[in-house]
Amino acid sequence: MEIEENYLLMMEYPVFEEAKLNEEIKKQLIEIETSFKNEAKESSTQIELNITYQSYIKENRYISIVFDIYKYKDVSTTTYLTIVYDLKQKVFLDISQLFDQKAIYEFSTILKKSLKEKDEKIVRLESVRTNSAPIAYNFRKFSLTKEEIIFYFDSFVLFEDAYQLKISYEKIENNTVFNKESASVFVPYDQVLNEPVKNIDPNKKMIALTFDDGPSKNHTEKILNVLKEANASATFFILGSQVHNAPYLLQRMVLEGNEIGNHTYTHKQLTTLSKAKVEEEIYQTQEAIYEVTHQYPSILRPPYGSHNDMVNDCAKETNVVTWSIDTEDWRSKNADAVVKKVLDEVEDGSIILFHDIFASTAEAIERLVPKLQEMDYQLVTVSELEAYHKGNNHIFTNEAK
Ligand code: NI
Repeated sequence: MEIEENYLLMMEYPVFEEAKLNEEIKKQLIEIETSFKNEAKESSTQIELNITYQSYIKENRYISIVFDIYKYKDVSTTTYLTIVYDLKQKVFLDISQLFDQKAIYEFSTILKKSLKEKDEKIVRLESVRTNSAPIAYNFRKFSLTKEEIIFYFDSFVLFEDAYQLKISYEKIENNTVFNKESASVFVPYDQVLNEPVKNIDPNKKMIALTFDDGPSKNHTEKILNVLKEANASATFFILGSQVHNAPYLLQRMVLEGNEIGNHTYTHKQLTTLSKAKVEEEIYQTQEAIYEVTHQYPSILRPPYGSHNDMVNDCAKETNVVTWSIDTEDWRSKNADAVVKKVLDEVEDGSIILFHDIFASTAEAIERLVPKLQEMDYQLVTVSELEAYHKGNNHIFTNEAK
């Protein structure tokens, strides 16, 4: 993440054990980042680049990574970058290596049918006819999930909005490429939550540690360990797109008495989006979190802290929460600097902003938690702070709730 005067940049990418795959991802993303920053230099307004990803594995062999590349400059556009890698042969695959021309015809027929269902008129457009024609190039952006193949179409290729077409393997007539694979079994989740009993003294000092942009497998886990050891609680503002990276960590958060908040699905600046898109960002995340924790978050932290009446209105089922201390851990990536900033500025009622995606932040937390407890601060969640520490002006309670 980078926040500068002329641009906002948020980029997420996975790291695999395959060096070849990592190199390819890095190469492609650096290219995109460089051209964006050059564009920012020449722009008179602040522009935004937001890259999130989904990854899939099929038959323990095919890895697909789909980057959703969102750019805002006067208008917003979404483009996709897809990478499909065969772990067995250690090669990158394109669509024509996996499917013959007959299959491409089938994809085109299914695509046209689905476009027609969505908008009868659109199939008559020259550009749409061209871009849905049965040539491999039109279907070059794809991913392989367990059950289906997904094709991706950038903004303005078919519709103004980006478009995805999902086709289950069963539907592809002459499909001999893949074996059927049973879906993996999700860890069963005990619906009876076993939250620890907490004794919060409303007459004593209290603060809320908050962590944005996770979960991340290593760093979030380390932070959870520190909190558990100290019998302390914190709040994690989760990105919907990251939930399935580590669903067990979300379950742990709840079971250990922490709070989960909504940090939108893809971390775009909400104030530049349409109302429908803002609602989609919020509700998709509510559902993703509910799916693994059986609880809907009651708080929302908008990316970059940007909110206005429209955003607040969309967030009507949740309180909007910002912060009083910004550790700027994403900028320094230095544990000493983060520790110092917190100890210099902390006071009763502080809401402190961290990101649980950096090793330096996890290290700072390891030092800060015992130190803050020595200073007689109770470490509570945001909703506990709202309940027990009245008059906090960084929690925007929605009257209509
Ligand atoms: Ni964030």
